[in-house]
Amino acid sequence: MVGFRYLNGLAFLCATFSLAASSSRFARHANASDVLEYVNPLIGSQAGGNVFAGATLPYGMVKASPDVNGENTGGFSTDGSQITGFSALHDSGTGGNPSLGNFPIFPQVCSSGDINTCSFPIRARATNYTTDSIISEPGHFGVTLENGIKTDMTVSEHAALFEFNFEGSTASNGTADPVIMLDLTDLWASRQNASISVDAKEGAEVRRIKGNGTFLPSFGAGSYVAYFCLDLGGGTVKDSGVWVNNRAGTEPKDLYVTRGFNLFYLEAGGWVRFKGPVSGPISARMGISFISTDQACQNAEDEIPGPKYDFEGLVRKAQDGWRRKLSPISIEAGGVNDSMLVSFWSAVYRTMISPQDYTGENPHWTSSEPYFDSFYCLWDMWRVQLPFLTIVDPVQQSRIVRSLLDIYKHRGWLPDCSMSTCKGWTQGGSDADNVLVDAYVKNLTGIDWDIAYEAIVNDAENESLEWSIEGRGGLASWKRLNYIPYLDFDPNGFGTNSRSISRTLEYSYNDFNLATLAKGLGKDTYAKYLARAGNWQNLFKADQTSAINGIDTGFTGFFQPKYLNGTWGYQDPISCSPLAGFCSLTSNPSETFESSAWEYMFFVPHDIAEIIELLGGEETFLERLDFFHTSGLADIGNEPVFLTVYMPHYAGRPGLSAKRAHYYIPSRFNSSLAGLPGNDDSGAMASFTLFSTIGLFPNPGQNVYFIIPPFFESVSITSPVTKRTATIRNVNFDATYKNIYVQSAKLNGEEYRKNWIGHEFFTNGWTLELVLGSEESAWGTGVGDRPLSVSDATGKIKYMA
Ligand SMILES: *[C@@H]1O[C@H](CO)[C@@H](O)[C@H](O)[C@H]1NC(C)=O
Ligand SMILES: *[C@@H]1O[C@H](CO)[C@@H](O)[C@H](O)[C@H]1NC(C)=O
Ligand SMILES: *[C@@H]1O[C@H](CO)[C@@H](O)[C@H](O)[C@H]1NC(C)=O
Ligand SMILES: *[C@@H]1O[C@H](CO)[C@@H](O)[C@H](O)[C@H]1NC(C)=O
Ligand SMILES: *[C@@H]1O[C@H](CO)[C@@H](O)[C@H](O)[C@H]1NC(C)=O
Ligand SMILES: *[C@@H]1O[C@H](CO)[C@@H](O)[C@H](O)[C@H]1NC(C)=O
Ligand SMILES: *[C@@H]1O[C@H](CO)[C@@H](O)[C@H](O)[C@H]1NC(C)=O
Ligand SMILES: *[C@@H]1O[C@H](CO)[C@@H](O)[C@H](O)[C@H]1NC(C)=O
Ligand SMILES: *[C@@H]1O[C@H](CO)[C@@H](O)[C@H](O)[C@H]1NC(C)=O
Ligand SMILES: *[C@@H]1O[C@H](CO)[C@@H](O)[C@H](O)[C@H]1NC(C)=O
Repeated sequence: MVGFRYLNGLAFLCATFSLAASSSRFARHANASDVLEYVNPLIGSQAGGNVFAGATLPYGMVKASPDVNGENTGGFSTDGSQITGFSALHDSGTGGNPSLGNFPIFPQVCSSGDINTCSFPIRARATNYTTDSIISEPGHFGVTLENGIKTDMTVSEHAALFEFNFEGSTASNGTADPVIMLDLTDLWASRQNASISVDAKEGAEVRRIKGNGTFLPSFGAGSYVAYFCLDLGGGTVKDSGVWVNNRAGTEPKDLYVTRGFNLFYLEAGGWVRFKGPVSGPISARMGISFISTDQACQNAEDEIPGPKYDFEGLVRKAQDGWRRKLSPISIEAGGVNDSMLVSFWSAVYRTMISPQDYTGENPHWTSSEPYFDSFYCLWDMWRVQLPFLTIVDPVQQSRIVRSLLDIYKHRGWLPDCSMSTCKGWTQGGSDADNVLVDAYVKNLTGIDWDIAYEAIVNDAENESLEWSIEGRGGLASWKRLNYIPYLDFDPNGFGTNSRSISRTLEYSYNDFNLATLAKGLGKDTYAKYLARAGNWQNLFKADQTSAINGIDTGFTGFFQPKYLNGTWGYQDPISCSPLAGFCSLTSNPSETFESSAWEYMFFVPHDIAEIIELLGGEETFLERLDFFHTSGLADIGNEPVFLTVYMPHYAGRPGLSAKRAHYYIPSRFNSSLAGLPGNDDSGAMASFTLFSTIGLFPNPGQNVYFIIPPFFESVSITSPVTKRTATIRNVNFDATYKNIYVQSAKLNGEEYRKNWIGHEFFTNGWTLELVLGSEESAWGTGVGDRPLSVSDATGKIKYMA
């Protein structure tokens, strides 16, 4: 019984399927209480989910996977394209350029004894795989190529172990000699220069290929160097050498490749050939480092000792690691469709693929602090993914926060986005601020809050010269005019001079978070930053209307760009929505980033009460939210929209939030391989599903979770720190989701009327019991039942006065 098999384009739970049983040596016995049976890493491996579907440890640096020539941002996908290699570094769920995929290796049996008949270049070697051979489970991935070569892969922290079995190879007639080649490239073919040396003499015990390469980050500045150390086991070596384009030879054994005329790209690498027939697998142990080749070899030797590698032992260890990570959560499904369980547990799994723990592999400075990478990007991660880790893995989340502070200490700036040890592009505000303050309001331990305060003040006060990669831009205008002007004059620093509306909104929330921290630490800057947190109001144009196809939507009042001189500019409120084309940093840069003014109208997480007022009161606010979600303007596959699902809570209509959550789950977030509405973005889509499903959705930076009924009968989460268990339980639960409205609630046995709750629920291990019905009720509707805003509905009460 092994994980998930890919059958007819759908993933089936093996436990329901006898046909998949007992064929594998990695067999786990059918065991419905083993949550790993419900994890399908292939969810999101189609239709732009871009998830990493291969083998990894929780937060593991090394991620082993086949790479394909189709949708390959995360390495592999089930889009029917061909496999071009097997590599050990990947990111998960990202958009844009494919990330990493460095130093792919590839097995083949060539058509004659002449090594030049092997297919070396990527186009020539691309091979179809047998769809129903895919086995994907935590810590293990297997697939058989159409030519019969069977492959399996697993990992440790900094090394991968691949096995290639040629016994069923159709190309092999019993005498043909298997070849393992290595390509000095990555998925994006971004290599600038690289070296390789091959040490594998005929009949030798030692068969080691090592080297390095300089590559470009997929969404960032500069370049990075990666180092590898590959040891091949099994069979008997016949010969070895290097290759360039489609030619190979046994001499020389070393190669240095660079980019010459017009940055011309040469395909090149090394190869080792074995005497056929080979019985049993050829194993390929790939050690990786960002420090040195020696460290890559050491990583492999320490973590996957030889000479005989224990593949099954590594898989077991990886799976035990995953079980431990998933163990704080337990659910009583209450009879819901198994597909909900698969969607849920797979989403929990995906929250811990990235960020990646690169501790000990930081090439830039030496430190005893943790070093995490693949914050890709914090803009995507701060809203739901990192808040989810704060609940289920607070120890790691604390280390993640410490690594952000260590980056600040050594680079002078908090990162906003980072990958492959490089600085990534900033999408909006200084989002690390939000991450730090969310950790603060939730009492994460082990963090130096004075340094955190200093780092955020630095974002708020010092303009970064390169604010495309760190800090904020336009700070002179921000301080003088209290908004980011359209076409700002900003000679103090450089970045793409766009997104004036979304940057104004994001900087406002960053400053609100800074105010929260200042207050907590007893700093007198609290009032100053709280005032700046209101800067968003300066871009609200009360008489702005919006039409779709020339027909007025009937809603008035939107954020609009404003010039330096105070005159309004204009951006059609529907621009950058799914109805009007995408806007990113590079494609169609606009005054709102990756979303429309319609959507950003709701991005004031600290003062929804004021938004409700400005938009004309609760009724029109709710009508506008409804129109937004049903007109095609909302893109549920992009993070800014998430909070809008829960905003009815602020208008005293928690039932409408529950209804909206059911509108999107499972119709847009489900267990099919194309079951994500867009890039998973690390684990952002996963976490939207998770928080909605457990019935407590965060407004990060604030100690607030909105309450809706969980999608299961009950959910319990044991805090790994306090060891207390929090439970949220439905009474009158109905697995067909007709009863999705809370009628009344009890917290630890006492009546509870608020439609939100704080993080103490998790750390103190409280019990929340929700009585459900099929209609909205009066529960949670009162003014005093709603989450707080900086100003309440009457605009008089200060949030933290
Ligand atoms: C089911 O799997 C869990 C987790 O590995 C294990 O603790 C339990 O003993 C297993 N139960 C059976 C009946 O095999
Ligand atoms: C097996 O294949 C090799 C390589 O293609 C070829 O040289 C040899 O003649 C074949 N042997 C038989 C018995 O077909
Ligand atoms: C690989 O699969 C594609 C799509 O199914 C097919 O068109 C192509 O002919 C296959 N290639 C080979 C070499 O079989
Ligand atoms: C390799 O490429 C990087 C990035 O372009 C460059 O900084 C470095 O000098 C190159 N190394 C050599 C040895 O050419
Ligand atoms: C890569 O390896 C070559 C050959 O050993 C070495 O000369 C070069 O300095 C290495 N490059 C880096 C960046 O470590
Ligand atoms: C469970 O969900 C799957 C996938 O959405 C669906 O095909 C199946 O019909 C559902 N089963 C039941 C009993 O509703
Ligand atoms: C954080 O700690 C303070 C002081 O002990 C306590 O009052 C507060 O309730 C805690 N907050 C959370 C979210 O646990
Ligand atoms: C601004 O940066 C300088 C160093 O460049 C630092 O000394 C100063 O403390 C920073 N100011 C704030 C307010 O953080
Ligand atoms: C303000 O600046 C904009 C852009 O340069 C210009 O179009 C507008 O006429 C100016 N308004 C006033 C009142 O000068
Ligand atoms: C599953 O989600 C995908 C992506 O959002 C969607 O296209 C598909 O229709 C959903 N499937 C079902 C059965 O709801």
